[in-house]
Amino acid sequence: MNSKSNLDFNEVINRHNTNSVKYDAAAKMGKPSNLIPLWVADMDFKAPKEVIDAMKERSEHGIFGYTDAISESYFNAVQNWMIKHHQWTPQKEWLVMTPSIVNAICVAIRTLTEVGDSIIVQQPVYHPFAESILTNQRNLVVNPLVYTDGTYQIDFEDFERKIVENQVKMFILCNPHNPVGRVWSKEDLTKLGDLCVKHDVIVVADEIHADFVYEDFGNKHVVFSDLKPEYLNRTITCTAPSKSFNLAGLQQSNIFIANEVIRENFKKELVRMGLGNPNVMGFVACQAAYEHGESWLKALKAYLVENIRFIEGFLEEKLPEVKLIRPQGTYLLWLDFSALGLTPAELNSFIAEKAGLWLNSGTMFGVGGEGFQRMNITYPKSTLEKALNQLYNAVRMRVANT
Ligand SMILES: Cc1ncc(COP(=O)(O)O)c(C=O)c1O
Repeated sequence: MNSKSNLDFNEVINRHNTNSVKYDAAAKMGKPSNLIPLWVADMDFKAPKEVIDAMKERSEHGIFGYTDAISESYFNAVQNWMIKHHQWTPQKEWLVMTPSIVNAICVAIRTLTEVGDSIIVQQPVYHPFAESILTNQRNLVVNPLVYTDGTYQIDFEDFERKIVENQVKMFILCNPHNPVGRVWSKEDLTKLGDLCVKHDVIVVADEIHADFVYEDFGNKHVVFSDLKPEYLNRTITCTAPSKSFNLAGLQQSNIFIANEVIRENFKKELVRMGLGNPNVMGFVACQAAYEHGESWLKALKAYLVENIRFIEGFLEEKLPEVKLIRPQGTYLLWLDFSALGLTPAELNSFIAEKAGLWLNSGTMFGVGGEGFQRMNITYPKSTLEKALNQLYNAVRMRVANT
């Protein structure tokens, strides 16, 4: 039953020779091939069986021509998912498809700001935010998150001051937040939203991790644009099934833009970039996932909660030098290694060479990333056990030798 529904998350699946960036690009990225790769945010689990079946059925049709008509059934699947899981009712005319969220962020930047304009982000944050801003020759403004008492808070005064000082035009919100794992509260989002309205700042709300909010730890995702009509009117809400159902390689994102002028300009920029044609299988997989993937996702989240509890227990008991910032959302853990007293470069080599792990270096996420590493936990528990034991041995060896 479990394996038929792809609910056996303990199964170790060989992903080599699938053109996987995680498993097949080590040499290209200058990494030894024997590291346990717990970095890039895709999962080592099979997608729900219903998604695979729907793709098989579609492939039997045999014709894979241009696919750019959003059917009622596709839209209903997306909308019903949002209503049921996030109590949000996006409208069909708001929907624009893009091949990825990062692509949507770049299109938003190019549509709604000019070269040299300032865009604010809350680092440490998903690194392509900064890359997208800089590569489009905009000015990166950082409102650093504040790390206190083992969690992260927003400095709202700094946020407003930086907006005013830099005449910020756009804010890229990450909610739930990668890598620090915060799920921003209604109060946090309202404070941010009111400041954006006050200073006429457009918001790109990246909510790709919305389905990974841990209710078991008392958290709930709030859709930013749904809080007030004036937020909706200035927000580009980025959603996708790619994280939730492990479909990133299919490149299907559903971007919702209620403001018609913004939406039409966004669409024109997509065409200018030659990105007008979505992926035929992306449609199929997205619809099947939202129609039939609920119980798979529920089982997966329960498995991930166990993984988090296991890692938390292991660190507390055996590796007190490494502190887990307990996530409210996302499947990415933010680990504080500062007690080891290593520079960022030393920490990176320690993780790779001594612990045999491939994690994301904290510094890649910008200000506040020093001393941290990001660990993906969407693996069978046996893989995480092996990884933690390797880390344990490396830390014990280091502590013994210093
Ligand atoms: C916050 C955030 N946004 C976007 C993405 C990437 O989305 P896509 O593959 O659709 O560009 C990720 C992937 O990890 C992410 O964490």
